[in-house]
Amino acid sequence: MLFFCLKILIIGYGSIGKRHTNNLISIGNIDIIIFTKNKEALELEKKGIKIVNSLCNALKEKPDISIICNETSLHVKTAIKLAKNNSHLFIEKPLSNSLKNIQELIKITEKKKLITMVGCNMRFHDGIKLMKKLIEKNEIGRIFSAIVENGSYMPDWHPWENYRNSYASKKQLGGGVVLTQIHEIDYLYWFFGKIDEVFSYTDKLSDLQLDVEDYSGSLLKFKNKIIAELHLDYFQKPNVRNCKIIGTKGTIIWNWENNHLQVFKNKTNKFLTKHIDKKYDRNKMYFQEMKYFLNCVKTKKIPMNTISEAYETQKIALAIKRSSKYGKKILLK
Ligand SMILES: NC(=O)c1ccc[n+]([C@@H]2O[C@H](COP(=O)([O-])OP(=O)(O)OC[C@H]3O[C@@H](n4cnc5c(N)ncnc54)[C@H](OP(=O)(O)O)[C@@H]3O)[C@@H](O)[C@H]2O)c1
Repeated sequence: MLFFCLKILIIGYGSIGKRHTNNLISIGNIDIIIFTKNKEALELEKKGIKIVNSLCNALKEKPDISIICNETSLHVKTAIKLAKNNSHLFIEKPLSNSLKNIQELIKITEKKKLITMVGCNMRFHDGIKLMKKLIEKNEIGRIFSAIVENGSYMPDWHPWENYRNSYASKKQLGGGVVLTQIHEIDYLYWFFGKIDEVFSYTDKLSDLQLDVEDYSGSLLKFKNKIIAELHLDYFQKPNVRNCKIIGTKGTIIWNWENNHLQVFKNKTNKFLTKHIDKKYDRNKMYFQEMKYFLNCVKTKKIPMNTISEAYETQKIALAIKRSSKYGKKILLK
């Protein structure tokens, strides 16, 4: 067994709540409690998992750790209640749909010395990890720019559900392509650090029945002068997810579909292809992310992407929307 028996509360048994539950069951030696209204979860009682139907009852369980998987707009409000109850926090991305009450949450978690992390599963993807390693090794020299694209047809994400009811398609629940696909902003921040300026066109372009933006085209200028072009959409078929980074000595290209990473070397005028794992199991990154967080709690180590760090990417995402709304470049402090 990897961990001492921990009491872990999962808030929300939707798509990601189910994934974390299954991964925690696989890790083992964990006392799991789930707060959900979803009757499907009652089946889990046979496996010794406790199901509660109110946050009040969940708090009475005094969980060591809480994993917040409810709708985006409820993350911070829920996290504040749990932090006051002395629970370490893993919050699914995005941290929130605004900046409201995040500073209050940070103050409580710092005062109580709680371990916090916002889910940033792409940082555990083998392709993204390798790109980060190559950047750090200066493999392509000084970096000029990056081109990042993530597009997919949103109704195909969960074909068994009505996409119109999903949090991702509702403004009130914190949806929209910018916040829902904050992964790309997060890994660019992880690669290149803080951002100075943002300019964006972000809008609803398709005929999908959503009250949120389904397109975002942005230019991000980092403090170290690197410029990234970021394209996000909810309407593209087939799915596309890739990243190209251009430097003085070459170019790195990574692509989700084939999951291989290529490095073009300017000196030899040749591509080196690094195959990662063609049949990549998506769950691997979520599993590793959870093991990493539990280990941080166990060893009292500060994880990457704490609430304070995720606050920075949250500011970038909101600046993208503001830039488009007001038709101007937004300067970030
Ligand atoms: N890291 C990742 O790759 C990843 C992937 C997916 C989602 N997420 C994030 O995790 C969060 C949840 O996403 P999800 O895909 O799991 O969503 P989901 O399947 O829609 O379920 C999320 C939760 O929201 C509740 N819920 C769903 N629809 C609702 C509605 N119309 N009104 C009130 N409550 C509703 C459900 O409560 P009950 O449990 O009571 O039914 C469930 O707990 C979001 O913030 C999302 O951004 C992250």
